[in-house]
Amino acid sequence: MKKTLAAVLSAAMAVSMIAAVPAMADDDVLTIGFAQLGAESGWRDAETNDINTYNEEHDDVEFLFSDAQQQQANQIDNIRSYIQQGVDVIAFPPVVETGWEGVLQEAQDAGIPVILVDRGVDENTPEDLYATVISSDFVWEGGQAAQLLVDAMGGAGKVVELEGTVGASAANERKEGFDKYIEDNCPDVEIIESQSGNFTRAEGKEVMEAALKSYDEIDGVFAHNDDMALGAIEAIKEAGLKPGEDIKIVGCDGIMGAFEAMVAGEMNGTVECNPCLAAQIVETAQKLVAGEEVEKWVKSNDGVFSADTAEEDIKTRSY
Ligand code: AHR
Repeated sequence: MKKTLAAVLSAAMAVSMIAAVPAMADDDVLTIGFAQLGAESGWRDAETNDINTYNEEHDDVEFLFSDAQQQQANQIDNIRSYIQQGVDVIAFPPVVETGWEGVLQEAQDAGIPVILVDRGVDENTPEDLYATVISSDFVWEGGQAAQLLVDAMGGAGKVVELEGTVGASAANERKEGFDKYIEDNCPDVEIIESQSGNFTRAEGKEVMEAALKSYDEIDGVFAHNDDMALGAIEAIKEAGLKPGEDIKIVGCDGIMGAFEAMVAGEMNGTVECNPCLAAQIVETAQKLVAGEEVEKWVKSNDGVFSADTAEEDIKTRSY
């Protein structure tokens, strides 16, 4: 039976597990070094599981996997290790948008194409250093989340924004889309606080606890991911308020926990961000090693979900 990523993961929780998994010499096997950024959210776990499952089910593809624990330096080390191993293709979600030129240049010098997965790099990074980006449209997601939240709030009120990891494209662009929608369309909505909760449930809860102490009136929360929304729900309950009623809450990702919270009446909406990208990564990698052109941005199709339809929608969710 094919080696599983789960086995690899349990073998070492270390910063880099790639040394334990040598690149395949077999020319029939496409080797993809996947430098995962961490395990900060349910969404991230779903992405890792999707790669794990693909790896288990396909003998012609070998994903090598490493976990950078949300540290850019670790992610760069792990990418360098894949370059040394001579993988066919490298894929990774950049934990932050900047600081990648050096290692991308090293990959290019070694003739290894790079696919950016689920997050992008900033506009100062030369585009010819990576082949493509496979990701959602975060600006769109932020705008959709704003519409969901403003609808739930009845068009007016004070909002706390829980931002993702500082410097991550998913945080910067969701903020851009959300803030712009509010600025352009909602004169009676005020963003009173905008702080990073680092895309984790624990830090989202901490930021919300502090906001609840600082402000007498909070009508809505936009969390850049569902994990932080779930952390905010805990903080709101512990403060003696009703999440979803006293304070409306919208997140991004579309994880199962968000749907459960919506069904329970504790959350008002979520904007999906597709984490199941393994098949697209492989298809793109195959084209790249065959020397074929690929689109510079392979955009995911994502849905928008409100609490109104959550009981039906939850039956169709897979992560
Ligand atoms: O890049 C995608 C984002 O990263 C997801 O929204 C979030 O949960 C994760 O941390």
